[in-house]
Amino acid sequence: RKDGVGRLPALGWNSWNAFGCDVNEDKIMTAANEMVKLGLKDLGYEYVNIDDCWSMKTGRNSMTGRLMPNMTSFPDGISGVADQVHGLGLKIGIYSSAGETTCAGYPASLGHESLDAETWAGWGIDYLKYDNCGVPSNWTDQYNFCVPDGSGNFPNGTCPNLSNPAPAGYDWTSSNTFKRYTAMRNALLGEKRTILYSLCDWGDGDVNTWGNETGNSWRMSGDISASWSRIAAITNENSFKMNYVGFWGHPDPDMLEVGNGDVTDAEARSHFALWAAMKGPLIIGTDLDTLSQANLATIKNEYLIKFNQDPVVGRSAHPYKWGYNPDWTFDPVHPAEYWSGPSSNLGGTLVLMLNSENSTATRTAIWEEIPELKGGSSYHVTDAWSGKDLGCVKSQYSSTLASHDSAVLVVKGCC
Ligand code: GLA
Repeated sequence: RKDGVGRLPALGWNSWNAFGCDVNEDKIMTAANEMVKLGLKDLGYEYVNIDDCWSMKTGRNSMTGRLMPNMTSFPDGISGVADQVHGLGLKIGIYSSAGETTCAGYPASLGHESLDAETWAGWGIDYLKYDNCGVPSNWTDQYNFCVPDGSGNFPNGTCPNLSNPAPAGYDWTSSNTFKRYTAMRNALLGEKRTILYSLCDWGDGDVNTWGNETGNSWRMSGDISASWSRIAAITNENSFKMNYVGFWGHPDPDMLEVGNGDVTDAEARSHFALWAAMKGPLIIGTDLDTLSQANLATIKNEYLIKFNQDPVVGRSAHPYKWGYNPDWTFDPVHPAEYWSGPSSNLGGTLVLMLNSENSTATRTAIWEEIPELKGGSSYHVTDAWSGKDLGCVKSQYSSTLASHDSAVLVVKGCC
């Protein structure tokens, strides 16, 4: 959606993965202040997004029909928080759903698109995350949740409706999902304020084929959780969908769990690297007040941020070899392990190698297998995690990786 914001993947923070429904002004302002103090703002992180549960659960204002902030948790209202966030030089996001209620059961926006867009614009909102809950039965689709992979097949596990997949050539823009998300798109475009539009559709309605025209990002898959198994499964599912990546619209693998649950430092590194390489939005989802130095360093990795935020190259990294499972099959435990992508910002090629096994293993990047390197024999290599210059490397580079860890290399020019 080419209207001034969202040409590159959004960088920011969101309350959901850290706090769920337990969200308030204090937590939002703590996150905003930490984004400045920790140097995240300087690296381009700019959105501070309030997720579900910010409004009065009981309903809309009976006189005006507008959504009302919960004044107990947001004593200054959302507009008061917006002012403070803007005062820090940051932007603010809000959340609703393309249904009658949000996923946590709060009033949502289906049928109220224009009024809600106007309300948010009036409060100074810069970003909307628009969820897919509370959809009344007359607004659901026969083929909801059937998400074909890049080859038009329905990989096992993405379609609870496998016995009834959409026919080949089905026009997804005639689906109710498309209509529900387009109604809010039009309402936002009707406001004078520019609001980034993030579709939280979970891959519904084959959104990959129309998400770019409708929003600035769209969810490719279901919810993340703070565990390696979910991170690996999302990576696997979405590795088939990288053909849709480009400027203005970004497929979203869901928000970051760096710093949460039982995600180890190594897993957090791989998670962040894969998300950055897919050119997904990088939305931090942790309590910044308690983030460890190791995890802070991960989300501040300048090489990966540069790859993600390339002003010239819209294409994401792609898997060039599977690795553990050589058959390129759907494997939620062992996703593609070898990724590469061109980068003008880095002046070379980003190469990512993942160890998806449960024990230490060696992964080797062989130059002649990497499409961007076009068969040259020696390249200048930098280790993106340590920043170390590895010098001129001939033919291939091997890394011994702890379980679920990854190597990220910047490979440049011939030498
Ligand atoms: C859905 C979304 C999550 C979060 C919750 C809030 O599950 O996918 O990202 O917004 O709703 O209830």
